[in-house]
Amino acid sequence: MANSSSSRVSADMKNLQRNRINGLRQVVRVMAMKKKVFLTRTLHAFALEHLKKKYQVEVHSGKIPIPQTKLKDKIKEVDGLICFPYDKINKETIEFAENLKVISTYSVGFDHIDTEFSRRKKIRVGYTPEVLTEATANMAFSLLLDISRRVTEGDRIIRDGKWKEIYGAFDYVGVDLKDKTIGILGLGRIGEMLARRAKAFDMKITYHSRRRVSKTKEKILKATYVSFEELISQSDFISVHVPHTQETDKMFDMDVFRKMKSSAYLINTSRGKVIDEEDLIRALKKKTISGAGLDVFEIEPIKKNHPLIKLPNVVLAPHIGSSTEETRKKMAEIAVKNLDLGINGRKPVYSVGY
Ligand code: DGY
Repeated sequence: MANSSSSRVSADMKNLQRNRINGLRQVVRVMAMKKKVFLTRTLHAFALEHLKKKYQVEVHSGKIPIPQTKLKDKIKEVDGLICFPYDKINKETIEFAENLKVISTYSVGFDHIDTEFSRRKKIRVGYTPEVLTEATANMAFSLLLDISRRVTEGDRIIRDGKWKEIYGAFDYVGVDLKDKTIGILGLGRIGEMLARRAKAFDMKITYHSRRRVSKTKEKILKATYVSFEELISQSDFISVHVPHTQETDKMFDMDVFRKMKSSAYLINTSRGKVIDEEDLIRALKKKTISGAGLDVFEIEPIKKNHPLIKLPNVVLAPHIGSSTEETRKKMAEIAVKNLDLGINGRKPVYSVGY
């Protein structure tokens, strides 16, 4: 009796073990079938949950930006990559890809990706325009308002305990926006959204773009097309909305600053490398131009002892053009959609090239 019951127990144990092993094998099989996705930084929970249902997901959690050696190792083994604007997805890195189908960047800018080489390797590139248009235009206009009314400068004065002069005729005076000329360089989505804000403030709107927009749009925005030379010499405020390319690299240098009005302000929410930062610092120090509002820099983050930090006539922001709760969620949705499509050999919703 005792013998038969103990042999039944051992048979049950064996069954249990066999089932467990089969279960594990099944998990391993499913995992092996699942495509691999790597994120160079974490995203919203809803986005990660979505990805985890379909793919084997790994999120980089160490040093930001991810060291290039780790990025290369990961690119070698994955089918999909979600990256950020500070990641260097250059030719040398992409060359490591063996199965990569899509690079989905969490940004409107894609100057950090060698898109030409990706195309040659048949790797699709997705990006996140449109959803961040308003947020970025608002940021540009915030910098413009801030620098023109010395808001941050005033905040600094108070916090440093240096508020001495009270309500004098010449204390902390800024400038009005009404009837001032704003020169928008690049009248794409963000430039156009900025023009709408400037119009509401009764500014005169001029723009220079690779392509002139339609007469109807010019009429709606009350925007006048001007040459680059006219834009830099006639504007009271210049706002930059062009991508960083070979043509736009350091396009704002001392030559340009000298042609600008000495009362003019420069706003940049596009890419730092469009401006020659050393020349800008000189121009701000020598008052060749009046001031600047900057959300982007040649190298980010800027160091604690960066010369821009010491200048009173500049407002600095830590690359937060698209950084609102709503926008960042929408960017995550698009980045995931782009990845989903690209990894399955389809064109991303917003795709660079093909
Ligand atoms: C982008 O998404 O490229 C912008 O820099 C956001 O601020």
